[in-house]
Amino acid sequence: MRRACVIGYPVKHSRSPMIHGFWLAERGIAGSYGREEVAPEDFDRFVAGLADAGYAGGNVTVPHKAAAFRLAAVDDPVAMALEAVNTLWFEDGVLRGMNTDAAGFLANLDQEAPGWDGGLGKAAVLGAGGAARAIVHALLARGAERVVIVNRTLARAEELAARFGPRAVAAGWDEAASALDGAACLVNTTSLGMAGQPALDLDLAALPAGALVTDIVYVPIETPLLALARRRGHPVVDGLGMLLHQAVPGFERWFGERPAVTPALRALVLGDI
Ligand code: ATR
Repeated sequence: MRRACVIGYPVKHSRSPMIHGFWLAERGIAGSYGREEVAPEDFDRFVAGLADAGYAGGNVTVPHKAAAFRLAAVDDPVAMALEAVNTLWFEDGVLRGMNTDAAGFLANLDQEAPGWDGGLGKAAVLGAGGAARAIVHALLARGAERVVIVNRTLARAEELAARFGPRAVAAGWDEAASALDGAACLVNTTSLGMAGQPALDLDLAALPAGALVTDIVYVPIETPLLALARRRGHPVVDGLGMLLHQAVPGFERWFGERPAVTPALRALVLGDI
């Protein structure tokens, strides 16, 4: 029986066990996927014992993605660019790592809004944390001519933009309106709008008609930003699909079959939100 897990701190709210459990049952695979709560000071030791603990690999979540990058053999260009690994597996006894966040972001938009990237000139990204890093990378890889990173703390946006070269530029929160001007797509990567957090209060007047709006927050599934964008007639894509799609490559590595993100899986996870 093949076993995998999600390693985080905290990890009890992770929905990865539900996602992988669904696929295992759907495909009749005799495997398991559990949760491992590992404190940062214990992470290296835990990973060193991963194979002996019977794991074929696992997902890595907050706050361990940089440490996982340091420990695993990495040839995935996305993980190298992000200096973060969210998926671990063994190949010939060697622990390997990749990052599926950027591909998960793109796969979600490809599935939910086909053609969204046609004529992707300018994109606006709100936030400058780890999620923003993956998404800026994804947008540039998909051909965005310019990505404006809008963040409350301008220095973090500048630092992130500098990693990506001249096509990424930084803006402060007070410049959000001009960042939206001419953008084909707007992505929220901040925690604003999440249940228990303040709403994201943004004037969308400058956002061109037809621009796609998406949020990585998926609790609630319809964030205040998505609701506002929908009222203004923009195509919107919620953030749940990114979570579902980023899980696909790991499942394939550990259990040998490539699963699909289906309405049934979405409904299952939605029922838990
Ligand atoms: P993650 O790695 O999940 O992206 P993070 O590194 O904690 O998380 O980043 C959270 C993002 O949400 C940051 O861009 C943060 O802005 P700062 O860099 O200025 O902290 C943004 N954020 C969180 N709370 C916010 C708030 N109340 N107003 C504006 N931005 C906020």
